[in-house]
Parts: sequence; C-alpha cells; structure tokens
Amino acid sequence: MLWFKKKESTAPRVLPDHIAIIMDGNGRWAKKRSLPRSAGHAAGANTFKTIARYCNKIGLPYLTVYAFSTENWKRPPEEVEGIMNLLRDYLKDAENFKDENIKVHFIGDLSPLAEDIQALIKKDEEASKDATGLTLNIALNYGGRDEIVHAVRRMISEGLSPEEVTEQAISDRLYTAGMPDPDFIIRPSGEYRLSNYLIWQSAYAEYWFSDVLWPDFTPRHLDQAIEEYSHRNRRFGGV
Ligand code: FPP
Repeated sequence: MLWFKKKESTAPRVLPDHIAIIMDGNGRWAKKRSLPRSAGHAAGANTFKTIARYCNKIGLPYLTVYAFSTENWKRPPEEVEGIMNLLRDYLKDAENFKDENIKVHFIGDLSPLAEDIQALIKKDEEASKDATGLTLNIALNYGGRDEIVHAVRRMISEGLSPEEVTEQAISDRLYTAGMPDPDFIIRPSGEYRLSNYLIWQSAYAEYWFSDVLWPDFTPRHLDQAIEEYSHRNRRFGGV
C-alpha cells in the first residue's frame, strides 16, 4: 500500500496497488445520444486515455482495463472492427505511453488478433518496457477462465507433479504473473458482475460500482472510488 496526498485534497488516502476497470456502458451512452455504438466506443477510448494518464499522475502502480473479452467476438463484425481500429489508432500513437513513462502490457490470448495489431503490440511493449511509471495492462481477447485453462495447460506441458500444482504455481502462469493482484475493481454502468474478468486474481479485491456510463467517467469519479476504498476494512479472511 502507498499513502499519497493529492495537491488539491487535504486528507491522505490509501491508494490501491492495482486497480482493474471494466469499461462498460459505451453502447448505452451512444444510444442515449442516437449515435452508432461505434461512437460510444470512440468516446470510451478517450475516457480510457484520460483515466490511464490520471492514474499515472497520482502514482498508481498498476491499472488493468478490459478492452475486449473472449466473448466480444459475438458482436456484429462492424462493431468488432470498430474496436480493433480504435486499438490500432492508440497503438500507432505510441507517445500515449512512451512520453508519459507508462509501461504498456497486453494480457489475453493475442494469437487470433490481426497480424498488424500483434506487431504493434510487440513494438509498443518493447518501446515502453523500461518505463517506471504506471504499468498499464490492456486486456484483449481476455477471459478469466481461458487464462486459467492456459495456465493449467502450461503446468501439464512443463510436467509439474501434483504437489507442485500450488496457488503460486497457477498465479505464476497467468498473464499477470509477477504483478500484485488487483485490490480494487471498478465497474461503471450499473452492472454488478465480474464478467469473467480477472476471476483468479480478484479473490480478495474490493469492488466499486456506479451508474455512470464509461464515456462519462472522469478522474473525479476515480477520486471518489479511491476515497471509498480508503475506508474499506480489508481482512483477507482474518479478523
Ligand atoms: C463495453 O461496453 C465495452 C466494450 C466491450 C469495449 C471497450 C472498448 C473501449 C472502451 C475502447 C478500447 C480502446 C482502447 C484504445 C483500449 P458495451 O458496448 O457493452 O456497452 P453497453 O453495455 O452499454 O452496450
């Protein structure tokens, strides 16, 4: 845990080590404005950039965002392509994280993604690998169950004995290996589900839900969430 004091606030608050966000509500945001769903995702991508920068500014060590799930392929092809294009734009604009000392890292099964996206991901991960600010994980073609299946397959192919299959052995083979588990999960848009997101890692996480739709989510909402997190009493099964 880190203690931090923001310039504009007086009370010290507890900053989580790792915040994970489900960026939900883009479609509803667009519908409310009679816009195509793609406009909602574009607005959501802008919010994502603002929030990632803000997390870096306040000294958060890890942020993980859910950009595309293993289930999202079921959406209409033009919607999937729209989200992929937003990712392309973001990845091409590598300054987004390089100049800001943000280390970008992708989690999920990247193998079915278009080759140019895979190449851009490699390039940007490499370019930002020495950054010392925020570690920004972008979950892409990510599913929590799928991730656990991958980890189990790896243990089997590495020939681990039953005794060697431990919680740590599984954690070490997840996409988030070596990172602290998320201690705070944020889901806007009035849904109260985990949706297969970081299901192993979030065993002891605190949750924060809000009716605000993701494109309307601002740093002030994040401040509010962190403020509430500060007052939670985390016992990890103890007393
Ligand atoms: C869920 O809202 C959102 C998604 C499935 C896509 C999230 C993607 C982005 C915010 C853009 C990603 C871009 C970058 C650069 C990381 P929804 O469509 O399910 O909304 P709804 O529930 O209101 O329909």
